[in-house]
Amino acid sequence: MSQLVEEVVTVACEAGESLLSALERQGHRVEYQCRQGYCGACRLPLADESQPQALTYLRPPLAWHEDNEVLTCCAHASTPVCLKLT
Ligand code: FES
Repeated sequence: MSQLVEEVVTVACEAGESLLSALERQGHRVEYQCRQGYCGACRLPLADESQPQALTYLRPPLAWHEDNEVLTCCAHASTPVCLKLT
């Protein structure tokens, strides 16, 4: 029987940087495809559900996501954000 391992990481964006780019800069491997907000491959859950206020999308993404998730390729964070990596 396999067990899903979940890692919580804190990521801070530099000016104009997406969460996905910030995660990659910090050495994390995150799944992605379009990097434009329409496939949903980069969707990650927030570790702290009170953090959506810190997130902004430059353009409204087309891919679906829950309130406690973020599309990392097109979201930017004004403060450090804790995300769950699986
Ligand atoms: S990589 Fe496609 S929505 Fe983020």
